Amino acid sequence: MVSTKWGSSLAAHIYLLLFSHLAGRAAAAPTTSSPSSSSYRAETLTAVKALQSWYNPSTGLWNTAGWWNSANCLQVLADWTMTDNSSATTLINVPGIMQNTFTKAQQTTVSTQKTVSARTGHITSTYTLQAKHIHGNSRRGFSGFINDFYDDEGWWALALIRSWDATRNAGYLATAESIFADMVNGTDAVCGGGVWWSKARKYKNAIANELYLSVAAALARRVPDAGRRARYLQTAKDQWGWFRRSGMINGESLINDGLTIKEDGSCVNNGAQTWSYNQGVVLGGLVELAYATGDVGYVREAVPIAVAAVKKLTTTVDGVVVIREVDRCEPDCGLDGPQFKGVFVRNLGYLVVAVSTAPERVLKGAIEANARSVWNRDRESGTNRLGISWAGPVSAGQGPNASTHSSAMDVLVAARGVAGLSPRGLGMGMWKVEEGESGSEGAKV
Ligand SMILES: *[C@@H]1O[C@H](CO)[C@@H](O)[C@H](O)[C@H]1NC(C)=O
Ligand SMILES: *[C@@H]1O[C@H](CO)[C@@H](O)[C@H](O)[C@H]1NC(C)=O
Ligand SMILES: *[C@@H]1O[C@H](CO)[C@@H](O)[C@H](O)[C@H]1NC(C)=O
Repeated sequence: MVSTKWGSSLAAHIYLLLFSHLAGRAAAAPTTSSPSSSSYRAETLTAVKALQSWYNPSTGLWNTAGWWNSANCLQVLADWTMTDNSSATTLINVPGIMQNTFTKAQQTTVSTQKTVSARTGHITSTYTLQAKHIHGNSRRGFSGFINDFYDDEGWWALALIRSWDATRNAGYLATAESIFADMVNGTDAVCGGGVWWSKARKYKNAIANELYLSVAAALARRVPDAGRRARYLQTAKDQWGWFRRSGMINGESLINDGLTIKEDGSCVNNGAQTWSYNQGVVLGGLVELAYATGDVGYVREAVPIAVAAVKKLTTTVDGVVVIREVDRCEPDCGLDGPQFKGVFVRNLGYLVVAVSTAPERVLKGAIEANARSVWNRDRESGTNRLGISWAGPVSAGQGPNASTHSSAMDVLVAARGVAGLSPRGLGMGMWKVEEGESGSEGAKV
């Protein structure tokens, strides 16, 4: 059933063509079984150590990464743990880092301001961090990981769910549930459904709604109570039903930033940038939904988005074929932008694990090619810090920081995850959480 679905697919042919030249460059790494993938283990471990050079134990956050970016730093550590638990626990003590971040991050006073540039569509978050000092009066931080932005809440919920996958610490899953309860309160009937970006209730955008889908679908497979699992599943299905009709997915299967609410109350695609992360989180959400329901139709709906996004984002930079953020914003994509590409590739990795078809091989090739470029061209010698431009040089923009590094690390971890060499690869550990499940191939499409 694999080949019949995709053998005649025009999209598959287009993207095989697109990547044939890319695969040609990648002589050392065939896309089906990559002999170099075993070395991603050492490379990724090295990158984890570099990431931790920014870790601030007193805030539980990563210096130079703001609030939501730090959730993504936590998530890449959790994803990595799923591929290399022994290194994560014995060499790095990821469970200890998770526990510390869980405790300290929500006590850290963070003031957040976000603005969207009307001219460029860039989102800029400004965070002021201050580690809470113990004595009574100082203001609580984002207690329970709740703040004014539903997207920030979603990032933390997902990172805590992955942390639960890696450790089975029940507190992480329970907190993800309480975060989601707050997100549910951010939904209403404006635009026919969906969650607002923030508690100011002015903008319904893609990222908050993709996170809402992903968190609901992830909880639907993990929480212990059957009644709550069923409710999360219904919420996730309803959310996807709304999202796909919302207008945010354009005619090229790409997702624009959000919706414009017109005078008459109707809502239309606002035509703003198709940021990479907007093409990413939805993939992970649909994969979760496919596993939660056993319905591979959700994965089928994800594939065209992934394929269109890889095509859109893949660019030749100084002769090197890599994924680059839309809008040619690199190397200056603001404080938030450097995180986006990693989010995309992470979720692309989840999708690749869930399919076993022609697009899977092509998409996997894209992940591996980017991983090689990150490692070979975008790494600072000595520190092993990774920069914003995956084609290099690592000094691009203001040089590497925790956001550029964790984002590039997502590529290394995804490459390792899709290589299928790990006994607890992303497929088995990340997605196949039910007892007794097996099969690193994931769902067949
Ligand atoms: C990871 O390794 C630690 C230490 O060896 C072990 O206690 C734990 O059960 C492992 N976790 C998983 C999810 O395999
Ligand atoms: C839920 O959202 C409404 C705004 O629609 C707000 O007034 C209310 O305080 C929120 N409830 C909780 C528990 O946050
Ligand atoms: C991290 O580096 C990127 C690329 O140079 C830059 O756009 C971003 O502003 C930096 N972040 C911080 C907090 O300096």
